[in-house]
Amino acid sequence: MEAILLIHGPNLNLLGARDEKQYGSLTLAALEKLVADEAAKSGLEVKAFQSNHEGALIDWLQKESPGASGIIINAGALTHYSYALHDALVDAGLPAVEVHLSDINAREEWRKRSVTAPACISMIAGKKEKGYIEAVQKLAQVLSAS
Ligand code: DQA
Repeated sequence: MEAILLIHGPNLNLLGARDEKQYGSLTLAALEKLVADEAAKSGLEVKAFQSNHEGALIDWLQKESPGASGIIINAGALTHYSYALHDALVDAGLPAVEVHLSDINAREEWRKRSVTAPACISMIAGKKEKGYIEAVQKLAQVLSAS
């Protein structure tokens, strides 16, 4: 079974207790289950990981990407400044979709820039958990065409 990596960055372990208006009400565990269920419909397995540490995210990505077919990433605030994560995504050489629960273009100026998005095939923001469903469908489409 092909696997996709589901990666969450800093503070996303607290989903469910964060600002509901921006991030919705699902916990990270519920979100991971939602993604796994959607991916299963396309015969894809999901391997999920969350860390508050940039290096841990990169270590996991380096370890898991050789056995995977695609990536869904919400890097949290690292999105806006982690060139190291950008490079790790490029080096993984897999189609990656970036997801944000909130609409990063409608918030503070500094959130509008994603330095990781250029390493991804698409970026979905502001659709709360529905954005993850879209991301799975996008990856499934890309993988079935390859
Ligand atoms: C986020 C947006 C980021 O700016 C923020 O730092 C997060 C969550 C989102 O899902 O909307 O932690 O990635």
